[in-house]
Amino acid sequence: TATDLEFAQHLSTTPKTVEQREAILADPGFGNHFTDHTAIVDFSVDADGKGGWSNARVEPYGPIALDPAAAVLHYGQEIFEGMKAYRHADGSIWTFRADANAARLNRSAARLALPQLPEPIFLESLRQLVSADRDWIPTGEGESLYLRPFMIATEAFLGVRPAREVSFRVIASPAGNYFGGELKPVSIWVSRNFARAGRGGTGAAKCGGNYAASLAAQLEAEANDCKQVLFLDQFNDNAVEELGGMNVFFVFKDGSLVTPALSGTILEGVTRSSVIQLGRDRGMNVVERKITLDEWRDGVATGDITEVFACGTAAVITPIGQLKDGDEIIGAPDARPGEVTMSIRSQLLGIQTGTAEDVHGWLTRL
Ligand code: COI
Repeated sequence: TATDLEFAQHLSTTPKTVEQREAILADPGFGNHFTDHTAIVDFSVDADGKGGWSNARVEPYGPIALDPAAAVLHYGQEIFEGMKAYRHADGSIWTFRADANAARLNRSAARLALPQLPEPIFLESLRQLVSADRDWIPTGEGESLYLRPFMIATEAFLGVRPAREVSFRVIASPAGNYFGGELKPVSIWVSRNFARAGRGGTGAAKCGGNYAASLAAQLEAEANDCKQVLFLDQFNDNAVEELGGMNVFFVFKDGSLVTPALSGTILEGVTRSSVIQLGRDRGMNVVERKITLDEWRDGVATGDITEVFACGTAAVITPIGQLKDGDEIIGAPDARPGEVTMSIRSQLLGIQTGTAEDVHGWLTRL
């Protein structure tokens, strides 16, 4: 894709050695290690009030020099995306539904009063980074190079208004299972004390603040031996919203697949929308609707709900075992991954890694 921005190449003179890299790729975990480079494009507003992107470059990975008054440090004007790059058997490198991430970044930008980033610049930034760090893509089951595009307000100004200087960056991190180790069903803690989002708030935007707001609840979850937290809309019959960092799906005995409808307080996951499509492709009755905690509890008790899973770019598709609501436990402690869950997971991974047909044209070559 052509952009009028030329990326300057400032390649690292001290990249990790082959041995260091191979050791990382052998057991990447999630979010622990970063590649040798980063892609950067800056935005500024000129004296006439006209904004534009410039100074595109690839630089060695390293700390960001930021003025202590940078708006992002005070008012949290920040957004991000989560994507992955996959190496196929023929060596080619692909990413998944990049157009959807580019569009969502711009919806988040609009909500956080950050500038719109043209999709060609977004894509080219990914390409530039992945091309500099092409040896960093692990290829084990469920492994990939996690890409983290993000946009921060860098202007040094303490008045509360949208920053006039902004930086867009992409970093990359070789990734395996988000929850570490082998894939297994995770336990979820019901947050009764905290909400992550409210009507008219930023819940539908992918901004750091939403994740900051989830952390106290996440701590509660961990104190109760759970891996993730479930947020409810307590002003709407305890409707299920989403987990701390992923969407949730229910498989019903009657062959339907249900996920909470987008209400403005839920993140519109790219994996979520892909699962909806793959469910429809296999003839399931896929419904986006309100589903309450009571329906979850009763559905599991009666056997109407046969499987529950979490999904996200980082989580891929992860089976949910138990749900803990205070002292009450919903679901079996020895829950095994459900059949439908694992089948959709392997189809999704197959498309992403080039072993299943990409019927929807979801892959973009990097
Ligand atoms: C992703 O799934 O990519 C996210 O950004 C969520 C976070 C839990 C890592």
